[in-house]
Amino acid sequence: MRLKLCLISALLLSLAISANAQNNEPWYHSTTIYQIYPRSYYDSNGDGIGDLPGIIQKLDYIKSLGYETIWLSPFYKSPQVDFGYDISDYTDIAPEYGTLADAQKLIDETHKHGMKIVFDMVMNHTSDQHPWFKESMSSRTNPKADWYIWADKPNHWSSQIRGTGWHYCKERNQYFWASFLPFQPDLNYRNPAVKKAMFDACRFWLAKGVDGFRLDMINSIYKDSLLRNNTASRRAVARSPETKKYRSTIKGSLNQPETFEFAKELRAVCDSFGDRMLLGEVYGTHPVVKEFLGGQKNNGLGLVFNFEMLRFHYNAKYFSKLVANLEKDFPAPYSPVYVFSNHDRRRSMKRLKDDMARAKLLHVFQLTTRGVSCMYYGEEIGMSDLQIPYKDALDPIGQKYKKVPRWLSELFDETLNRDDLRTPMQWDNSANAGFSTSAKTWLPVNPNYMQINAKTEVKDENSLLLEIQALLLLHKRNKVLHDGSLELIPKQPHGVLAYKRKLNDQEVIVILNFSKKPKEVKLSGTPNSLYQIHKTDKYDAGTVHLSALGAMILGK
Ligand code: NOJ
Repeated sequence: MRLKLCLISALLLSLAISANAQNNEPWYHSTTIYQIYPRSYYDSNGDGIGDLPGIIQKLDYIKSLGYETIWLSPFYKSPQVDFGYDISDYTDIAPEYGTLADAQKLIDETHKHGMKIVFDMVMNHTSDQHPWFKESMSSRTNPKADWYIWADKPNHWSSQIRGTGWHYCKERNQYFWASFLPFQPDLNYRNPAVKKAMFDACRFWLAKGVDGFRLDMINSIYKDSLLRNNTASRRAVARSPETKKYRSTIKGSLNQPETFEFAKELRAVCDSFGDRMLLGEVYGTHPVVKEFLGGQKNNGLGLVFNFEMLRFHYNAKYFSKLVANLEKDFPAPYSPVYVFSNHDRRRSMKRLKDDMARAKLLHVFQLTTRGVSCMYYGEEIGMSDLQIPYKDALDPIGQKYKKVPRWLSELFDETLNRDDLRTPMQWDNSANAGFSTSAKTWLPVNPNYMQINAKTEVKDENSLLLEIQALLLLHKRNKVLHDGSLELIPKQPHGVLAYKRKLNDQEVIVILNFSKKPKEVKLSGTPNSLYQIHKTDKYDAGTVHLSALGAMILGK
């Protein structure tokens, strides 16, 4: 793979790559993450479904791009109604993805490639096909009767996807609670045996060498112990001084104080195995996020995945505010996570109207900010959403909604059929984009694969893929980009965002032009050009000249 690195000054290329060893910050505070949706990555056995041996075959590719950490969406045993986010055995593998031996091989091979590997842990709920739930639902007196949340009468809580989360079970003549879909019953963490069982499941994988977990729906782990209704209206809660702190998020089914404690306990479990990552999927902003991080003591999860960023606006003002807020609320040693695509919301490329130039600029921003960058498979080649009709939806959310409801479409350009953004990885321009040899793949391949595919982009010196590869290398090799502080440089021309990264005597300045017009920015000193998107982006006698959607990274 040819590197687009001729512009990177050797001056600042530090060969000491394991940066954090020196500043005592854990490795996961500044890593770059590549998220894989296993079902769609690479099918090694021709059944139309991606699998673990397929991922192992592609480790060279991921390594060559320069990502430091891989996060895998779930591949445990599951009836696959929510494609793995409904687990029926936490310590076994779904047969379509491989075996336990394959999982071990994947962990070991990833390490041999010098990368870390993080699994997805769905601790809030199991599948309704999990033996624990089958037992729990069988009677009110069985040994697992209170492993889930049961009530004689539903209260007024609603599930996270609207509508009640209470579902009737005739065997018990009671209702069980499900924060998400009805086939995903919530576990009852007020029973210590449940917590032990789930922590043991984590230990099982930590002992196999996994470098940590992404934690699904971590806001919901505990519910109000008395299952009380959410009595206060939002406005009343906002007015009340005691509850002001968590005003939009105090609901009996979310953000209970015990859940913040749970985050610390799980951190301790991980710490007993060494330096392991915990990345929480947390809905909410400061101060709830801060609680998940462990508050002042910073002894909680360590990292929080910010869902709101997935609906970013593409302009300098938005990104400037985003950085300013994160730096204010989560200054070092806290570490923000920058994420613009995942398996739940529209791909960034779709939001960028399939414009590669915009995507390049977005990733210069993402890979030069302070903290962790998290990218979704295919984002490196500019994969976009495929509009799959709701009537064909395999995604249970797509099946439930059948179309985007008006309240949502008025707020965002969003899809509720997540199949659109989970289509197979586009490897090359052969049949099925090189993903599978099967006649039929589990989801259709996006027909744009003839142009948008990894093999083509590796050979195209102007491709997004080579851009991202170069940026990942720049990030990895420059300690200041990995670990340095970040300070916004105010008073930029309209549409321009600029910031400084600093570490000891190293300083890097990043200047990004989000507008469609060329811009000029004054800069004192005689900085070295480390990186530029376009040939026309240049520094000349105290002025940085940026083309439309141009960017420069300059070292001092
Ligand atoms: C959040 C996950 O990201 C999503 O894919 C899943 O459907 C729900 N949690 C339920 O586990």
